[in-house]
Amino acid sequence: MDLIIKNGTIVDSNRCYQANLAIAEGKIKAIFLGDKNFQAEKVIDAEKKMVFPGLVDSHVHFQLQDLGKIISTDTFASGTKAAACGGVTTVIDFADQTRGESPLKGFYERKKNADSQVAVDYSLHVSKTDIEFLDEIPTLISEGIASFKFFTTYSWRNLDLNDAELLILFREVRKCRGMVVGHCENDAMVIQYRNDLIQEGKTDPIYHAHSRPHIAEEEAIQRVLLFAEKTGVKLHLAHLTTKEGSDLLSLAKQQGLNVTGETCPHYLLLNEREYKGSEGYLNLMSPPLRHAKDQQALIKRVQDRTIDQIVTDHCEFSRESKGKGSVPFHQVLNGIPGIETSLPLMHDFLINKQKLTYPQLIALMSTKPAQIFGLYPQKGSLMVGTDADLVLFDPKIEKVITPEKLHYSIDWNPYTSLKVVGWPVMTILRGNILCEDGDFVGPQNKGKFLKCTNK
Ligand code: URP
Ligand code: ZN
Ligand code: ZN
Repeated sequence: MDLIIKNGTIVDSNRCYQANLAIAEGKIKAIFLGDKNFQAEKVIDAEKKMVFPGLVDSHVHFQLQDLGKIISTDTFASGTKAAACGGVTTVIDFADQTRGESPLKGFYERKKNADSQVAVDYSLHVSKTDIEFLDEIPTLISEGIASFKFFTTYSWRNLDLNDAELLILFREVRKCRGMVVGHCENDAMVIQYRNDLIQEGKTDPIYHAHSRPHIAEEEAIQRVLLFAEKTGVKLHLAHLTTKEGSDLLSLAKQQGLNVTGETCPHYLLLNEREYKGSEGYLNLMSPPLRHAKDQQALIKRVQDRTIDQIVTDHCEFSRESKGKGSVPFHQVLNGIPGIETSLPLMHDFLINKQKLTYPQLIALMSTKPAQIFGLYPQKGSLMVGTDADLVLFDPKIEKVITPEKLHYSIDWNPYTSLKVVGWPVMTILRGNILCEDGDFVGPQNKGKFLKCTNK
C-alpha cells in the first residue's frame, strides 16, 4: 500500500464510524478494523480526527472572465491551491459562452487553460448565453459537460436568455439528457430598481441589496420552475438567497419536479448589515445578502434537506478591482472569496451551533454535489474502489480567520476576526498529500478534468 490512515473517525453521508483506510494507486483499497498486516510506505495516525471524503464545490469562479477579459484576482493555480487548503478536492467552474461564439470552442479553451494549472480535480459547467450552437450540446455532453448554466439577468453583460430562449434551451438540453443550472433574478426589475436608485443619488453599497429585491429572485425562480415542469428538464437552482426562493424549491420538490438547489455560506452567515461601513463594498455579490428572516428560512431548508448542497460561488477580487469604496454600487465587481473557509465555517455553524450531524454536513458539501453533477461515487464517497480524496479534520482546533494565513491572492476576507472551532489539517487528492497543517505541500498542477455524467 502507498498510505494507511489509522484510528480516524470516518464520516460519510450516512454515518460516522471508527476504521482504518488503506490506499494504493490513488484509490481506497481497504476499509478495515484492527491490523491487516498491510505494508505501507506511509502511515498517518488520525486519532481524534475525523476523516471526510474530499469536498466537492460545484460552483466556483476562478479567473472569471467578463466580456472576454479576465477580471477576477485569482488564477486556476492559486484558486485550486486555496481550495485544497480548505479541504476541497473537486471543483466545478464555468466555461461561459461568449454570445455568438461556439460554446464548444469556449469549453476547449477554458479546459486547456485550467488543465495546466489545477491543483485539485475539476469539471466545468457550460453557460449558454444564446440559442445558437444548440447542435453542439451532444458533443459537449460526450466531452463530460452535464450541466448548462443560464442567466435570467445580466442583460448588460450579454449573459441573459429571454423566456422563449429559455424554453428552447430547456427543451434541447432535456432531449440530450443534460441538466440546466439557473441564476434566477428578474432582469427588468433589477434594471428598473437600479436606475431609480441611481437617479435618487442612492449609490452606497446597501443600495446594491435594494436594487435586487426579493421579488426579483422569487419571480424568476417561479418562472423557470414552470418552464422546467413543462419541458421535463432536470433543473438546479444556483445560490438561493431568499425565504421565498427556498419555499418555491420545497413546493416544487413536493410536486415531484426533478429539481435541486444550493445556497452559500455567506447567505447563511451574513446579512445586508454587512453593506454598511467603509468596507461594505467588499461584500457585494449577486444575488445580494438578505435579511435575518431569510437566513433563518435558509437554515431551516438546509436542516429539512430541501436545500441539497452548500457551494461557495467563490469569486475573488482585490480591494482595488472592487473600487476601494469610491465607486457607485452598480460599478463594483460582484463576488467574494469563500473556498478555503467554507468547511470550517459550515462545521462551526451547522454542527457546533445548529446541531446538524456530521453525515448531514458531508452530504451537503461532498456527496450531494457529486451525485447531482454525476461524479458519484468516484467523488463524494469513501468506499473501496473510489478515489482516495480525503480530508483529515480536527474538530477541536480553534482558529481566528485571518486573511494573511489563507492562500488567496487578496488581503481581505468577509469573515476576518471570526473565531471558529474545527479546521482541516490535511487534504489528500487521489492518495497524494496536498495540504498539511495549513501549508500547501503538494504538486501545483496535478489536478485532472473529470467527466460529469447525467444518470
Ligand atoms: O456575485 C457573484 N455571484 N459573482 C460571481 C461571478 C458572477 O458574475 O456570477
Ligand atoms: Zn450566479
Ligand atoms: Zn456564480
